[in-house]
Amino acid sequence: MQIPSLRVDGKIALVTGTGSGLGRAIAIGLAQAGADLALTELPDKLALAEETAAEARKAGRRAIVVPLDVLRLPSIDECVDRTLDGLGRIDILVNNAGVNVPKLAVDVTEADWDRVLDVDLKGVFFTTQAVARKAMIPRGSGKIVSIASQMGVVGYRHRAAYCSAKAGVINLTRVLAFEWAGHGITVNAVAPTFIETPLTRPMFEDPAFKEDVLRRIPLGRLGKPEDVAGAVIYLSSPAADLVTGHTLLVDGGWTAV
Ligand SMILES: NC(=O)c1ccc[n+]([C@@H]2O[C@H](COP(=O)([O-])OP(=O)(O)OC[C@H]3O[C@@H](n4cnc5c(N)ncnc54)[C@H](O)[C@@H]3O)[C@@H](O)[C@H]2O)c1
Repeated sequence: MQIPSLRVDGKIALVTGTGSGLGRAIAIGLAQAGADLALTELPDKLALAEETAAEARKAGRRAIVVPLDVLRLPSIDECVDRTLDGLGRIDILVNNAGVNVPKLAVDVTEADWDRVLDVDLKGVFFTTQAVARKAMIPRGSGKIVSIASQMGVVGYRHRAAYCSAKAGVINLTRVLAFEWAGHGITVNAVAPTFIETPLTRPMFEDPAFKEDVLRRIPLGRLGKPEDVAGAVIYLSSPAADLVTGHTLLVDGGWTAV
């Protein structure tokens, strides 16, 4: 018996939102696991994605940087076209780009709601649709991994829009897995707990908040970006060939108790 590989040698991966945090770790992890990369970032933050690309190249892989603003459908189309022009195909899509506007539900404005839902749910859908249409369905294969959140499974204060968007990503994952199984495409999500990134570091300067979070995590620590990268690599690899429609919680046990 040949155990399926956890590597992604020679695969082409498009990863969104790679200038910092989880996106950077996922990109570097996929490069170390053997993938060539198209790394996206907002047009005014491309220099940060270039830093990530430089790290990925140290693993001996190709890495190009492509502008993407998921709020603009033409930008999504251009990003996919540029990736195909530059690297020839897309085997793996990682929908990592995301935002949060933490506020109590009574204070959420229409603009807050639209921003979070538009980036975190609508952006994921239309990026995935463009990659499926232009790259994966024509080739009859592909692996799609979206970064949802444990907040798509549980509720938490200050996150009415964010929890709603991430729950949407988790159920969207099931629909796309169902519709595209016949095209040889798997669609999964990773749902992390709080991970130490530039996005969350300021929140943990509040000791009461940090204590509340750690109390809910049986394994007793915050996540690290590499915890998430490992889950993404697994779902992108041949080892997960029969896994689709699944959301892999990387939450230290938060949702288990
Ligand atoms: N950090 C955590 O604790 C945590 C936990 C669970 C899930 N997540 C999710 O992980 C993902 C990455 O989060 P992070 O903590 O690394 O945050 P981050 O702010 O460091 O990264 C977010 C990335 O998304 C990009 N982005 C924002 N708006 C965009 C747009 N309109 N179009 C394209 N790109 C855009 C940003 O430029 C950035 O590169 C997000 O989807 C987030 O919801 C994070």
